[in-house]
Amino acid sequence: MSVTTALDPAAPDLMSAAAIADPHGYFAALRELTPVYWDARYRSWLITSHRHVAEALRDPRFSCDRIEPYIRKKLSGPDTDPLVRQAFEVLSGWMVFKEEPDHTRLRRLCNQAFTPQSIAKLRARAEQLCHELIAAVPARGEFDLIATVAAPLPSIIIAEMLGVPVADRHDFEQWTAKVSPLVSTGLDDPSRYGSVAAGMAGLVNYFRGLFQRYTEQPEDNLICALLRARAADDTFSEAELMATCTLLLFGGHETTANFIANGVLALLRHPDQLAAVREDRVEMKQALEEFMRYDGPGKTVVRVAREDFEFAGQSMRAGQRVFLILSLANRDPLAFDEPERLRLDRGPQRHVGFGFGQHFCLGAPLARLEAGIAIPLIVKRWPALALAPGPLQWLPFLGTRGLRELRLRTHPLTH
Ligand code: HEM
Repeated sequence: MSVTTALDPAAPDLMSAAAIADPHGYFAALRELTPVYWDARYRSWLITSHRHVAEALRDPRFSCDRIEPYIRKKLSGPDTDPLVRQAFEVLSGWMVFKEEPDHTRLRRLCNQAFTPQSIAKLRARAEQLCHELIAAVPARGEFDLIATVAAPLPSIIIAEMLGVPVADRHDFEQWTAKVSPLVSTGLDDPSRYGSVAAGMAGLVNYFRGLFQRYTEQPEDNLICALLRARAADDTFSEAELMATCTLLLFGGHETTANFIANGVLALLRHPDQLAAVREDRVEMKQALEEFMRYDGPGKTVVRVAREDFEFAGQSMRAGQRVFLILSLANRDPLAFDEPERLRLDRGPQRHVGFGFGQHFCLGAPLARLEAGIAIPLIVKRWPALALAPGPLQWLPFLGTRGLRELRLRTHPLTH
């Protein structure tokens, strides 16, 4: 893999085609030279080494509250569309943006539903669904793995966990799709606000209806668990309940789809590892962590400097934005042997693909369950599975490492 050729150290561009296609290669030289770097183009710090990313994720001087100041500035005008305001207000209640004590309070309310033991109860349903999705793929020819299996699996499972009835699934998916760009591309594109706001309004009204329905007739689902938590804790407001439901909905949607797709892609590019998975010679628990390290879907998380301070010899100023590039940390040669190689038997490791510290991904057990079922089933289903011809198109997002589609062939080309 080329390392230095694409990077102009005078002006690396996070969003350049080269950086999007191959962030690992593009930034490797920067990580070696200046692991904590001021990017004048995006007026942000880039942290790329494993050591410094892990330190920053635990350091309270890096604030998670990167959304309130932004929203205050953007929505300060009197003529802001009320639906746009509502969409941002829902987002601002997400625990991932919260500091203590609100963060711990909100997280505690959801923890129970996401323990490995609670998530293990979903195994049989996730396996059944994955088999059904795979069976629906045409037996021969080309197909997009993301649209057919990798995306529907996590999206149906989270809808079922929340308690969204099957009859409502279509409308629910339409609203979700409208809000998704906000989650994946961030807040910088006002041209999308109208559609995002309409989607969020649909979700908010719909969830309100579900809260009412499940208050009157409780069932065994996540919304009912949150309603019970709310009944027992009067500090948990309805706005926080709404925010938490939407965060759980979006937190694991595209991330898990990309986890599955990037994992299958990595296997297709490493035939020895692919054979090991097909022949059940790998410990899937370890392999999943290696898929996450090697090309996990969480590319970057954002923090804001809370105060003026020194970090790794650099002077950070209060309010400056900081990008922690998880993908780069996960290929740091100072933290991993042969970081550019996919080694599914690597053993216990400290990748930061699910973050680290207090905000470590709440949904990690669910993502592991789904990818741990889907990846082996997919590669075993088609013994001659191969990439379809044509270039891969990576999504031009800073936060996410994912493909627009992953076109695969189930059989070799015949002439
Ligand atoms: C492979 C899939 C996933 C990846 C790569 C991923 C990645 C991450 C990362 C990096 C963070 C930390 C963000 C930060 O520190 O700013 C995070 C937090 C979070 N994730 Fe995930 N995630 C995945 C799947 C899921 C799923 C399936 C759910 C739930 C259904 C979920 C829910 C959450 C929540 C609620 C948080 C906030 C935790 C907190 O602030 O305490 N994630 N995730």
